[in-house]
Amino acid sequence: SSASGAATPSPAFWSSRLAFILAAAGSAVGLGNIWKFPYITGENGGGAFVLVYLACIAVIGIPVMIAEVMLGRRGRQSPINSMREIARQEGVSRHWKALGWLATLAAFLILSFYSVIAGWTIPYIFHALQGNLVGVDGAAAGEMFGQLLASPVELTLWHSLFMLLAVLVSVGGVRQGLERAVTWLMPALLLLLVMLVGFGMSTDHFGTALRFLFEPDFSSLTAAAVLVALGHAFFTLSLASGSMMAYGAYLPKGVSIVRTSLLVAVMDTAVALMAGLAIFPIVFANDLEPGAGPGLIFNTLPVAFGQMPGGSFFATLFFVLLLFAAWTSALSMLESVVKWLEEQGLARRKAAITGGLAAWTVGLTTVLSLNVWSGFTPLDSFERFEGKTLFDLYDFLTANVMMPLVALLTAVFVGWVMQRCSSEDELGAGRTHRLWLFVLRYLTPVGLVVLFLYNL
Ligand code: PFF
Ligand code: NA
Repeated sequence: SSASGAATPSPAFWSSRLAFILAAAGSAVGLGNIWKFPYITGENGGGAFVLVYLACIAVIGIPVMIAEVMLGRRGRQSPINSMREIARQEGVSRHWKALGWLATLAAFLILSFYSVIAGWTIPYIFHALQGNLVGVDGAAAGEMFGQLLASPVELTLWHSLFMLLAVLVSVGGVRQGLERAVTWLMPALLLLLVMLVGFGMSTDHFGTALRFLFEPDFSSLTAAAVLVALGHAFFTLSLASGSMMAYGAYLPKGVSIVRTSLLVAVMDTAVALMAGLAIFPIVFANDLEPGAGPGLIFNTLPVAFGQMPGGSFFATLFFVLLLFAAWTSALSMLESVVKWLEEQGLARRKAAITGGLAAWTVGLTTVLSLNVWSGFTPLDSFERFEGKTLFDLYDFLTANVMMPLVALLTAVFVGWVMQRCSSEDELGAGRTHRLWLFVLRYLTPVGLVVLFLYNL
């Protein structure tokens, strides 16, 4: 990539199929799997929610992922300009560019609060290093977490540090740093999760956790929960927010999009389920509340680490890995924005700093939502949004409104607007293509529309 030439967007390519898989998996695997999945599963009652989530991944997530990587590879630019370029190639309205805009906006908004949450891992690394977690019980862990959230200054510090890390790698472009980081990160994270699941098995409550996660009780499933599961399927796979399109843009022709997408989705799902299996035994063993919300893993994992031999070491490793997982995800969100800024004539360096700084600024409102503005719930007059802070609203708006909408537009565009021969050119003609196109044409849009209407 050329950081010096002002108007030349970096024409990078992934160096191999494996590099793309690692980068896409790096984007997918993040806070969504280890922080968000357990707590929304806890809030929404477990088994039935998990099952709906898995169905959403299979029926909607994977086909949409294939579509997005394909659009990226065809457009070879930022999501915004890729959509413009493909619309031109296809001879359809330029306004399809709006899909790219909406996706990029979602990525930007998510990045703004993602960075705040990712920042939480940093003080926990220090706690673990100093041995502060040794012997903590549920109450002590809760207090530790509460103190962190109560301090806007501290939160801003960690948020700033995290965003700085993301910008630093983004400045270097896709190949340097990013590719190398994910190569060892993914296996290490997996190994550590296996270990934590092992610890969960050693508690008396592994069975309770298993039943909680995999014994569906549909009587407790609400329509709102189904929407949350759907939104999370997009969030966790980095869909409907430009990232997969942006990464697809660097994918060499000839790599199988279907096979790689499947692999990435399977890895992401495996990590989420393992996180659930690691966390819920601790929740039940310590009488903690599964529906505790965003603090769930920060209230539970310290307890587990505090009890196991070598806990300080493993806790340090875990929070470092979580930080790295969040880092590679943040990079992919930044990429859609940075790439577009580059296309506007900014040098890579300037583009990365501008995008990061803008998201950082919006992120400050999330920092304040957690303490000073925790009582500021501007949409209280709507029952659905009652008690939601700005942070809650960003989360809701992105995962439950913008992402389903972008996914719907993507399905309609690829399924109905784009010529069939164009997608066959990318994916190869045949049975797989026919099945994929069928799902994208009928199941995906109908599912999304029904869910939307049902929730209104
Ligand atoms: N997939 C990431 C996670 O599960 O943590 C979050 C994410 C990354 C969402 C990139 C959106 C995105 F564009
Ligand atoms: Na994920």
